[in-house]
Amino acid sequence: MKILVTGGAGYIGSHTVVELAQAGYEPVIVDNFSNSATSVLDGLRAILGHDVTCHRIDCGNAEALHQVFKAEGNIQGVIHFAAFKAVGESVQKPLAYFDNNVGSLLTLLEVMKDEGVTNLVFSSSCTVYGIPDQLPVTEATPTKPASSPYGRTKQMCEDIVHDTSGAADNTLHTILLRYFNPIGAHESARIGELPLGTPNNLVPFITQTAAGIREKLTIFGNDYDTPDGTNVRDYIHVVDLAKAHIAAVQRLLDRRASDIVETFNVGTGHGNSVLEVVKTFEEATGQKLNYSIGPRRVGDVPAIYADATKAAEVLGFKTTTSLRDSLASAWKWQLALGK
Ligand code: UD1
Repeated sequence: MKILVTGGAGYIGSHTVVELAQAGYEPVIVDNFSNSATSVLDGLRAILGHDVTCHRIDCGNAEALHQVFKAEGNIQGVIHFAAFKAVGESVQKPLAYFDNNVGSLLTLLEVMKDEGVTNLVFSSSCTVYGIPDQLPVTEATPTKPASSPYGRTKQMCEDIVHDTSGAADNTLHTILLRYFNPIGAHESARIGELPLGTPNNLVPFITQTAAGIREKLTIFGNDYDTPDGTNVRDYIHVVDLAKAHIAAVQRLLDRRASDIVETFNVGTGHGNSVLEVVKTFEEATGQKLNYSIGPRRVGDVPAIYADATKAAEVLGFKTTTSLRDSLASAWKWQLALGK
C-alpha cells in the first residue's frame, strides 16, 4: 500500500516514513530538500534496512507531481508535510510562505483530483488556535487570529481543505492533524531534527547549547501569567506524533471517518513551562545548561496545550513517551550529530 509523503525527508516526515514502513506501508517520499539533508535517506536506510523511494521535486511543480503519481502507480493516500515552518522568518518573508505553503497544497489537491487519489492527511498546527481563551484546547475551541503569516498559512490551508471537500465534485477525504510541539528523535539516533543555522525552536537550541555550539539559551520572558512566568507548551515526542499519522491513514483507508474532513489535536494533553523543560533536560542528561532570562519573543502565545481526548477516543491514539525521555532522545541525537 503506497503512501506519498511530501516533505518526507524533513523532521516529522522522516519519522513518519519509518513508522509507515514498520506498519507495512510503502512510503514514497517527495521532497525538494530545501530544508532537509539527503543524509536523512541514509538514516532511513540504516533504521529500515532498505532504501526508501524518494523523488527530488518541488510540490509546487504540478507536472513533476503528476509524473510521480504515474510512475509509482497505485498511490492510496498522501501525507502532506512539505511546508516552510519558521514563525519569525514568515514575518520577514510572508509572500514566500503563502506561495510555498498555500501554493503547494493547491497544486497537490489539483493533482490528487486528476489522479483519483482521495485520501489526505494534512499537517496543521496548534497555532490555528491563536491565543486561546480556555485551556486545554479542544478541536471545537474557536480559532483566533494567527500571530504570524506562518500561522495564517495553516489556517488558510485548513479552509482550503474544507472548501475542496465540500465541493460538489469532491472525492477528497481528509484528516487534519493539529500538532503541538514535536521534540526528540528516533531511538536509533539515525534521524532527528536538523535545523539549518541557528535553531528557532527551544529543544534544538537547548541541545546545541549543552553541546557548546551556542553560548547560552535565552528564555523569552518570565513575566507571563503562567505558574512560573515562562510560556507553557505541549511537548510531544516526534515518534509518538509520527504514529498519529499511521492511525489517521488507516482510518481514511478503512473509510471509518465520520466526516469528509476530520480534525484532531495531536499532543500529550499536558503543558510544561520553558523552565520545566530546561530543568527536566538537566535532570535527564546530567548536563548543566547555561541560560538567562531575556525579553519576550514577539508573537509567542503565553500558554497552550491539547485536550487529547478526541484523538484517544476516535483515533485510538495516545502518547507514550515522557518529557524526560523525549529530551534524553534529543540529547542522544545531538551527541550523534557531533560525531
Ligand atoms: C511555533 C509555532 C508552532 C509551529 C512551530 C514550528 C506558534 C504559537 N507556534 O511553536 O505552530 O509549529 O513554531 O517551528 O506560532 N523559547 C525560548 N528560547 C528559545 C526558543 C524558544 O525561550 O531560544 C521558548 C518560546 O518562547 C516558547 C517555547 O520555547 O515558549 C517553544 O518555542 P518554539 O520551540 O519556538 O515553538 P513554538 O513557538 O511554541
